[in-house]
Amino acid sequence: MKTTVQQLQADFIATMAAVSDLNGLEAIRVNFLGKKSQISDLLGQLGKLSIDDKKIWGPRLNQLKAEMTATLEEKTISFEADALESRLIEERIDFTLPSSGITKGSLHPITHVTRQIQQIFAGLGYIVAEGPEAETDHYNFSALNFGKDHPARDMHDTFYLDTPENRLLRTHTSGVQIHLMEEYKPPIRAITPGKVFRSDADVSHSPVFHQVEGLYVDKGVNMGHLKATLQHFFDQFFAKGSDIRLRPSYFPFTEPSVEADVSCVICKGKGCSMCKGSGWIEILGAGMVDPNVLRNVNIDPEEYSGFAFGMGVERLAILKYGITNIKLFYDNHTAFLEQFQ
Ligand code: DAH
Repeated sequence: MKTTVQQLQADFIATMAAVSDLNGLEAIRVNFLGKKSQISDLLGQLGKLSIDDKKIWGPRLNQLKAEMTATLEEKTISFEADALESRLIEERIDFTLPSSGITKGSLHPITHVTRQIQQIFAGLGYIVAEGPEAETDHYNFSALNFGKDHPARDMHDTFYLDTPENRLLRTHTSGVQIHLMEEYKPPIRAITPGKVFRSDADVSHSPVFHQVEGLYVDKGVNMGHLKATLQHFFDQFFAKGSDIRLRPSYFPFTEPSVEADVSCVICKGKGCSMCKGSGWIEILGAGMVDPNVLRNVNIDPEEYSGFAFGMGVERLAILKYGITNIKLFYDNHTAFLEQFQ
């Protein structure tokens, strides 16, 4: 027994002297202290010894086992500290190095144009208001004088939602007019930017696009005010010198209704491919708020009148920046967006 124990201790010391990493330590632990190790074996044999031998070898073996355990533990802690130290050296970050360059973000052209519109109308005393994108039939259609079976509903390619109130994705921002007139008493001057949705997609149509609606309700508002307001807007938005013309049109919520054209910003009215040779570009719908719409929000049409207009933001951006494909707005390639710093 004595030589075996001495040999075991010597083996352990020699092996420990040669170990160089944590994996090696684990192997030693399994070898020298595991279930199948020599020490376990020796402890198992204690039972067969005489009482006197047991008294000597019991404590001796347990002491050896404790020593080996402690030595292993100490070495493990020291190896772990070494490993941490070398990782810290290896992964050191030099905060004084110059960065690889950060590119500055820019506003999306749609945001640019929306803000510009807001700014121009703020100069005329218009407030900015927003309405819900998931709207009820009432606000998107009925209150705007679209009768239940009105054919104009079909032109809106509506997305209907499976919600308790049968909401739909608003097809235009005109419904915000109703919210505004319910909330405020005239005089009301507001513009309402926002997303609108129609089940329609090709090179010039996207199922989601942006509109800005305008509303002015007060005593004595007339078509002359509408035309002057639009002219002022276009003078500010495009370079001065862009003419506008109003053509008769139809919308359920305005009477009379018009469509407004601006003289082509590309050819200045001479005729080009942008304006299809006509010299004019259709840009928005507008009109005098239909008396039925005013009645729907308890405003007396005998006392008040108003005008409204609605325009597509993408269309304005296309004309302003000469963009050829509506998809460019949604692909969001940085090479495109960076041009709008
Ligand atoms: N809501 C109409 C559309 O999406 C645009 C429009 C036309 C808005 C006439 C108006 C208006 O406020 O008076 O096509």
